[in-house]
Amino acid sequence: MSLKYVLLDKKDGIATITFHRPEALNALNSEVLADLDAAVDDVIADDEVRVVVFTGEGKSFIAGADIKEMDGCVGLDIVNYSRKGVEIFRKIELMTKPTIAAVNGYAFGGGFEFVLCTDIRFACSKAKFRLPEVTLGIVPGFNGTQRLPKCIGMNKAKEILFTGKMLTAADALELGILNHVTEPEQLMDEVYAMAKQIADNSASAISLVKAAVNAGADMDIDIGKNIELGYMAACFGTPDQIEGFNSFKEKRAAKFR
Ligand code: HXC
Repeated sequence: MSLKYVLLDKKDGIATITFHRPEALNALNSEVLADLDAAVDDVIADDEVRVVVFTGEGKSFIAGADIKEMDGCVGLDIVNYSRKGVEIFRKIELMTKPTIAAVNGYAFGGGFEFVLCTDIRFACSKAKFRLPEVTLGIVPGFNGTQRLPKCIGMNKAKEILFTGKMLTAADALELGILNHVTEPEQLMDEVYAMAKQIADNSASAISLVKAAVNAGADMDIDIGKNIELGYMAACFGTPDQIEGFNSFKEKRAAKFR
């Protein structure tokens, strides 16, 4: 597979997808989205990959959708462009493998929206977050209007969406958008430390936990509780459950395959 606008690296069960269009601060044009889609399909299909990390090359994570490509679009052009991003982001949100964002710089517009579809979010202290769409006369088209209110509540989301104001990493941490903020030189070390901790656990159990959490976000607890029950039943008798229980009885660390 030949990729130009994202880099795909795999090591010890951890895949890293790096946005690589530094000349445009990793803005998401159709080619970046196509490469991202191919890289995501690759890691989903690769049984060796247990955790997926996303980061950006240079001083930016993603500076948004590509304004120059959108310029002049009307009607179906922009619907098709927007839908492409929406579908890839949703695929990432629902993929059974856990995802971690390592936000190394600007996460603007579609870049901020991308962060919202990942499971666990780290940023370096220099990272900046912004949804500037209303300053461009458009709406966030990669589902920021849907995911941000779910993440931080409607009133705080509306303030960010209506003002287009900039958030520091510390602001985003306080709002609950981020899990952790690190010094820039520590970012990837801390991300990989957590990725390893997750990769050492049962991948099959994590995939079911993720599916249960995702499903529960959109449904009543009386339906969600039955989904969890079904997943619990599905775990028993699996190699990971047997190994996990044996490791407890034998007082040793579990070795999941
Ligand atoms: C296209 C972009 C871009 C973008 C930066 N570039 N952001 N190109 N789309 N979103 C390009 C610049 O045009 C420039 O190319 C090069 O990257 C470097 O950018 P500079 O502006 O010179 O860098 P700097 O002064 O450091 O400023 C960084 C910045 C600024 C603050 C991030 O670039 C910026 O405000 N960018 C726009 C961010 C934005 O509005 N994003 C939201 C887009 S709308 P040249 O060739 O000129 O040197 C969106 C909607 C999502 O995301 C949904 C769509 C369906």
